[in-house]
Amino acid sequence: MESIVEILSQYSDKFNKDLETYFPRCEGIQYRAFDAMRYSITNGGKRLRPFLLTKSSELFGVDYKSSLGASIALELIHSYSLVHDDLPCMDNDDFRRGKPTCHKQYDEATAVLAGDGLLTYAFEILSNSCIEDKKKIKLISLLSKLAGAREGMIAGQVLDLFTESNIYIDKKEEIIRQTQALKTGCLLKYPCICGCILGDGSKKEEETLTKYADNIGLAFQITDDILDVIGDEKIVGKTLKKDEKQNKLNFVSIYGVEKAQKQALRLIEEAIEVIDYFGTNSCEFKLLAKYILDRKY
Ligand code: IPE
Ligand code: IPE
Ligand code: MG
Ligand code: MG
Ligand code: MG
Repeated sequence: MESIVEILSQYSDKFNKDLETYFPRCEGIQYRAFDAMRYSITNGGKRLRPFLLTKSSELFGVDYKSSLGASIALELIHSYSLVHDDLPCMDNDDFRRGKPTCHKQYDEATAVLAGDGLLTYAFEILSNSCIEDKKKIKLISLLSKLAGAREGMIAGQVLDLFTESNIYIDKKEEIIRQTQALKTGCLLKYPCICGCILGDGSKKEEETLTKYADNIGLAFQITDDILDVIGDEKIVGKTLKKDEKQNKLNFVSIYGVEKAQKQALRLIEEAIEVIDYFGTNSCEFKLLAKYILDRKY
């Protein structure tokens, strides 16, 4: 059987080819932001979110092509969140995926506009996709919510930036869970639920995928925070050891690497148990869950 690294790499090759068709090269100064969008989205990335979206769709008999519009849209939103996350007014990062961040390669204003452009283009692509109208509206509505400032990724980014660190430890745990569920969990939950929407899954199936997603979402951010402390900068492709300097509140900062690793392991074990509901079809979901724990970047 192929390893998850091989499965992901084959998936990315295919997905990247499709993604590139949305980013033709255009001549002219007005395309500077579009250029920066292409730079940011085609410079690597594990493509975990579209992979999950394809896999959850396949669970319900919906193939890669039929769900592609939703996968592309989601990856654009993810990419925009990173372009803005790296800005000097946010995490102030110079490297992403081993290359200069968007504002370093271009300039700050262009990076802001490229982020805006990716966000807008995501909804253009999703609304023009070949998905049946009723389902498409549900997908658009859910994506807006999970990427948004009330119950989505932006709300999590706000908590990440503006939470005071001098609060009681119990309160800290609660806030970390909330922050990470929003800033990271939401965009990992979306692809898991998409399959149910596209393939008319049952309530129980949606709940199962949601539980799996909640667990891998939190574990994913914990491993990101662990990598910030003990990762290899060349492999991770980002400047590391920054979270402490920037006073970021996360499980690693309050409990240390070892305890955070145990927490992530428990979450992944639970995710694997939950997704077993889908029997033999859950195989890749289980491999992906383990990969999230063991990943080096
Ligand atoms: C990075 O996400 C941002 C977090 C939510 C921690 P990924 O690690 O999925 O980033 P890429 O797309 O693979 O670079
Ligand atoms: C990023 O979290 C989450 C989002 C972009 C929504 P981090 O700030 O920890 O991600 P990295 O470490 O910059 O990739
Ligand atoms: Mg951040
Ligand atoms: Mg960051
Ligand atoms: Mg990080």
